[in-house]
Amino acid sequence: MYQKVKGTIDYYGTETKKLQIVSKKVKDIIENFGYEEVVLPIIENTEVFTRSSGETSDIVRKEMYTFEDRGKRSLTLRPEGTAGIVRFFLESKEYANLDLKKYYYFGPMFRYERPQKGRYRQFIQFGVEVFGKSSYLLDVDVIYSAYAIFKALGIKNIRLRVNTIGDFGSRKDYALALKEYFKPKLSSLCPDCNERYATNPLRILDCKVDSESEALKKAPKIKDYLSEESKLYFKNLLEALDMLEVPYEVDDTLVRGLDYYTDVVFEFEAMIDGSYLTVCGGGKYSDLVKNMGGPDLPGIGYSFGIERLIELMSELNLFEDLDPKVDLVIISLDENTKKQSLKIANDLRSFGYKVELDYSSIKMKQQFRLSEKLNASLVLIYGEEEDKNKEIQVKNQKNGTQEKIKIKDLEKYLGENL
Ligand code: HAM
Repeated sequence: MYQKVKGTIDYYGTETKKLQIVSKKVKDIIENFGYEEVVLPIIENTEVFTRSSGETSDIVRKEMYTFEDRGKRSLTLRPEGTAGIVRFFLESKEYANLDLKKYYYFGPMFRYERPQKGRYRQFIQFGVEVFGKSSYLLDVDVIYSAYAIFKALGIKNIRLRVNTIGDFGSRKDYALALKEYFKPKLSSLCPDCNERYATNPLRILDCKVDSESEALKKAPKIKDYLSEESKLYFKNLLEALDMLEVPYEVDDTLVRGLDYYTDVVFEFEAMIDGSYLTVCGGGKYSDLVKNMGGPDLPGIGYSFGIERLIELMSELNLFEDLDPKVDLVIISLDENTKKQSLKIANDLRSFGYKVELDYSSIKMKQQFRLSEKLNASLVLIYGEEEDKNKEIQVKNQKNGTQEKIKIKDLEKYLGENL
């Protein structure tokens, strides 16, 4: 028996329905914020990710699905959306026309992680990326759009953590200070953090293993190394969040797991199955577009983990109407009316009704059973006599009433009764 690849999900039944509901809602909401959808390839040249996410990030070091194709090119299944969007933004020269570009995407990402609740090897992200302006108001509007999505989906128990990691200069000073501080403490840190010490000491602050250690708690804080400009930017940003009444907490240990961030970073977390999980994370990246060979334009964005969002909504009972339901089942009582009922079914489908019929049986009982299984609102019964009189019997499954309707009046009748 074949099994699905470890860490992947088969969507079917109500789970597909949930995915459809979430996908439609987030897209509807984000389009009101002026974002346009881009659908980009799932495979990219490997350098797209190594140059953007950073050689020191866990994603690039340990988690990418990278392979050589038959033409000996190194390709990678995208582990995240931002890098591909920047690649597209540059390749299409979209930056040449407009001073602000707002994109969103929805699709599968791949990371070789240890699968567990809320963590998969193939998962879906919905995300946004905005290019072209450095403005705390824009940053707040981006953060607000994520908050608005949680609100519109009915999720209240959400926690927003924000931090600033400053501009490139501030970060460099901070990294040096961290190196000095951690040098005598290396033996108390985990092997991964020892490696992080050499490659990117900021990442030590993000460690899940050492997060409770004294060494980490007492480490220098980024806020003491910020330039005046970065401090003012962050202050204004927090004030704008206050004005919009978005609850948040400033967490100066929040650094995020990708290398491209500068200035504001943020995460929305929620309790799922008893523990806090990040459902949406993002931040600003002032140098990424330039570092990938483009003009000096800042970007900002975030991504939602759709599986986590669905798990959260399921736990909070926020999905309604998940039972499959059809509008109509047509029951026909002989070969001739069976053929004609296929025509009636397709006429009604073209008017937007969900219609089913039994393709083989002309037994009343069996066809009624199908209508019950499909939870049909109305049953149309079409036999020899109805055919002769150009009419059809309509049985309402809810109240049990039954009446005869002329076929030519059927559409109008359904419009009034369904
Ligand atoms: P990230 O924090 O790596 O950021 O991922 C964003 C979200 O994707 C996470 O908060 C989580 O909900 C979901 N996620 C990540 N890994 C997994 C996994 N293995 N299984 C299930 N869900 C997962 C980024 O990817 C950035 N590109 C976000 C961004 C956009 N920053 C700026 N623009």
